[in-house]
Amino acid sequence: MRAHIVTYGCQMNEYDTHLVASELASLGFQMVEAIEDADLVLVNTCAVRGKPVEKVKSLLGRLRKEKARRGLVIGMMGCLAQLPEGQAIAEKFEVDLLLGPGAITRIGEALAARGRFWDTAFDPALDRAIPPPPAGALAAYVPIIRGCNHRCTYCVVPRTRGGVEVSRPPEVILKEIEQLKAAGVVEVTLLGQNVNSYGNDRPDYPSFAELLRMVGAMGIPRVRFLTSHPVNFTEAIVRAIAETPAIARYIHLPAQSGSDRVLRRMAREYRRADYLRRIEVIRDHLPDAVLSTDLIVGFPGETEEDFQATLSLYDEVGFDHAYMFIYSARPGTAAAEHFPDLPREVKVERLQRLIEKQKAWSLERNRAWVGREVEVLIRGGAKEAGFAEGHDRGNHPVLVPAEEAPGPGLYRVRVTEASPHLLFGEVVGVLHRPAAREAVA
Ligand code: SAH
Ligand code: SF4
Ligand code: F3S
Repeated sequence: MRAHIVTYGCQMNEYDTHLVASELASLGFQMVEAIEDADLVLVNTCAVRGKPVEKVKSLLGRLRKEKARRGLVIGMMGCLAQLPEGQAIAEKFEVDLLLGPGAITRIGEALAARGRFWDTAFDPALDRAIPPPPAGALAAYVPIIRGCNHRCTYCVVPRTRGGVEVSRPPEVILKEIEQLKAAGVVEVTLLGQNVNSYGNDRPDYPSFAELLRMVGAMGIPRVRFLTSHPVNFTEAIVRAIAETPAIARYIHLPAQSGSDRVLRRMAREYRRADYLRRIEVIRDHLPDAVLSTDLIVGFPGETEEDFQATLSLYDEVGFDHAYMFIYSARPGTAAAEHFPDLPREVKVERLQRLIEKQKAWSLERNRAWVGREVEVLIRGGAKEAGFAEGHDRGNHPVLVPAEEAPGPGLYRVRVTEASPHLLFGEVVGVLHRPAAREAVA
């Protein structure tokens, strides 16, 4: 049997895809590159905005046709599978297997059922499952906490990945990282909706700051984490980063808006001034830290004045980068049910202005790196011909001439040029190259 998995959404979904692919491999499946060659196609879905949901629908439409033509098992997993919206879509497109994010360990059972198998119940064994290290990879994700205790009014995630934060046992996390290290992985990214909350649900577990120090001492050259929440991004965490050289100097701290009125309607538990205080603490301890954020434009009721507050927050922080989203009304969320959506033109026009702001700041921030040396993890070729692409400890994408970096590895690079999106550089040293048998990245 041959299988193919299509993955939408965030790093959690990428990790889940790897876990399910490993499970399929152990069941004797061969993973294939093309959908046309697969007997089983799993769609790992995202429900955070309308766009990824539309993509899933059009792919499922294509798969249903293929199923009618040549027979095919269609599976849906990921966040959309957990929602009534997704289950209606699965029904319509004749999906055979449906597994919620907490049920992916039941893939074997689902296939053995040889018919329709839908499961959205959470499997307690999931937190203890350790997939084998991805073959030849230099970078890997490791989930540390599942679910979300917050209730941002626009967001589906507490309903898809669980509304109560559950920390993964530290011994399981450390064991997984040991195995990755033994397999040659040089960069580990700790994952969670709110990694800062790690251990809050378990007094017997280390805190996030303590976990960072533990992981940072394991001999993995680079440790990163995603995502932080401004409410519990404590000074203890900032200190742990500052005092642990392996931890990347990159902090992604979603602000969502610069307006207190909007933050209140979003049910974000901090205000603009609290956010800026967090940034100050970060700058005090980590003057070189690269800062990025998430911003939503056109949240219901957002006035021009509210939007101006987001622009001015951007200027006050001077973010290195931002992920900017047009508000998308998601079925079942408080915001979609209680607040009318703004006209699309207003949202699009604000996004354009925000993008201009982001580009100007990113160019200025990126230019500050020209002439400096950065450590770049190169995993493969770049989209631009003749270049190899990687990222540094500040998560900047960095391009170097392909002939200077003949394969995956950790390179020392002198930055020679900057654009709003990229740093360009020349290789001045090789820090680590995987042994030949591992070099597949
Ligand atoms: N747990 C993280 C990220 C969750 S989803 C956090 O709390 O920061 C990633 C990002 O998608 C969010 O930070 C938010 O900016 C954006 N997002 C979530 N729901 C959205 C919606 N309905 N419309 C537009 N953007 C949304
Ligand atoms: Fe969604 Fe808010 Fe939780 Fe982030 S903190 S996952 S935006 S509810
Ligand atoms: Fe990730 Fe999308 Fe789910 S962003 S958490 S896959 S809704």
